[in-house]
Amino acid sequence: MAKKVKLEKKKCAASRNKNNNMLPKLTIGLLMGVLYLLTVANAQLPSLEDGIPENEKCDLFRGEWIPTTSAPSYTNTSCKFVYARWDCIKNRRPDTRYLYWRWKPHNCNLKKPDPKRFLNGMRDKSLAMVGDSLLRNQMQSLLCLLSKAEESVDTYYSGAYKSMRWHFRSYNFTLTEYWAPFLLQAESLSKRKSKIYLDTLESTWTTEYHRHDYIILSAGPWFSTPTIMMENNTIVGCHSCKSEFKELGSFYPYRRALQMAFNFITTTDHKPLVVYRTWSPEHFEYGEWYSGGLCNRTVPYKEGEYNDTRTGHGNYAIDIEEFNKAAAAGSKKGIHMKLLDVYHLSLLRADGHPGPYVKYPLEKNANDCLHWCLPGAIDTWNELMMEMMLNEVDKSLKDNF
Ligand SMILES: *[C@@H]1O[C@H](CO)[C@@H](O)[C@H](O)[C@H]1NC(C)=O
Ligand SMILES: *[C@@H]1O[C@H](CO)[C@@H](O)[C@H](O)[C@H]1NC(C)=O
Ligand SMILES: *[C@@H]1O[C@H](CO)[C@@H](O)[C@H](O)[C@H]1NC(C)=O
Ligand SMILES: *[C@@H]1O[C@H](CO)[C@@H](O)[C@H](O)[C@H]1NC(C)=O
Ligand SMILES: *[C@@H]1O[C@H](CO)[C@@H](O)[C@H](O)[C@H]1NC(C)=O
Repeated sequence: MAKKVKLEKKKCAASRNKNNNMLPKLTIGLLMGVLYLLTVANAQLPSLEDGIPENEKCDLFRGEWIPTTSAPSYTNTSCKFVYARWDCIKNRRPDTRYLYWRWKPHNCNLKKPDPKRFLNGMRDKSLAMVGDSLLRNQMQSLLCLLSKAEESVDTYYSGAYKSMRWHFRSYNFTLTEYWAPFLLQAESLSKRKSKIYLDTLESTWTTEYHRHDYIILSAGPWFSTPTIMMENNTIVGCHSCKSEFKELGSFYPYRRALQMAFNFITTTDHKPLVVYRTWSPEHFEYGEWYSGGLCNRTVPYKEGEYNDTRTGHGNYAIDIEEFNKAAAAGSKKGIHMKLLDVYHLSLLRADGHPGPYVKYPLEKNANDCLHWCLPGAIDTWNELMMEMMLNEVDKSLKDNF
């Protein structure tokens, strides 16, 4: 195990006075630690209203967490999709306060999730979710929220769990998940290192793209892992690779991946509703995930109490810039794109991660401050997503009559 470096994370304005002394760390595994410590978080944050269409009655993504006495919508017994890995209660997390918060947008109320209404809206439709293990985390939450209306049936697993499919029979609604942690074509070079192709998208999702009415897309943590980057079949650089190749950082390939994916979406004839889910913040404190970092908070941060890391700011800024460009290009072609902006609301939920209460951690004894407990804060992402998608369905019904 790596030497225990007790580096207190500086998260407040004070840290911004420090020199820009980036300490690029070799990160390994799925669990992405925060890459740069004690840095000037110098990415420009977009203005608050970016990415929010004017016609939205209220900004669903700006608000606060307020205490509630209502129990979560599901438990590990009522829903079989709660994966043991993120079943924090089963993994003996002692505190339960993190289960009793509800998201309250400033100018409206988020409706209670209504799985029947959602499934009715999705009748005879097909939804695809493309991403990594965080997306899988989100998808399990969605399956659980929907299982109150109807239990889905697994219909397909590809050999290496690269894609999975569920069917809700009474609604003829299909949900497919594609494993594409970089969105780009990628090969695993070793347990901890990938070769990624900056000019080629992962074909598992692009070849079946036309089959779906709705696409949920996300990316993120894997770009912080060691990568070798290819373009025109030539190595153009790398990240955290300790080799002779040029260090290109993690922001560069992240942006390239989004540009590739959005370009594909806005230049393909098929016109699904595309929802892009933003970066999800990590909350390691007292070190990195491989050096004793942990997340032991039991209540959410208050607004303004925590200001994230340079990696978080940078990736979120890239999300907003690239999404806005793509949404503008898409709207000219009649392609509807929506932003599921989970960044700010999740930033406050340092209490929502499994921490040590994770089964199969990616490193022995490592805390998981990246994924989310099920049930938990991640359910809110889906409540917001369902609300957004139903608004679109209602709108298109109105447009057609
Ligand atoms: C948080 O960091 C961002 C990016 O560096 C900066 O623009 C913002 O002012 C910071 N906010 C606070 C409250 O320190
Ligand atoms: C659900 O969690 C409880 C702890 O609350 C645990 O005892 C039980 O084994 C879990 N059930 C399943 C099906 O995982
Ligand atoms: C179910 O939905 C698919 C589209 O996702 C459609 O092609 C098919 O005809 C539907 N089946 C029935 C029985 O309506
Ligand atoms: C790859 O090839 C394209 C077209 O042939 C060219 O425009 C681009 O500059 C090349 N990229 C690199 C990194 O060589
Ligand atoms: C969290 O862990 C740190 C470091 O071990 C400790 O100082 C702190 O008291 C813990 N906080 C809680 C709420 O347990």
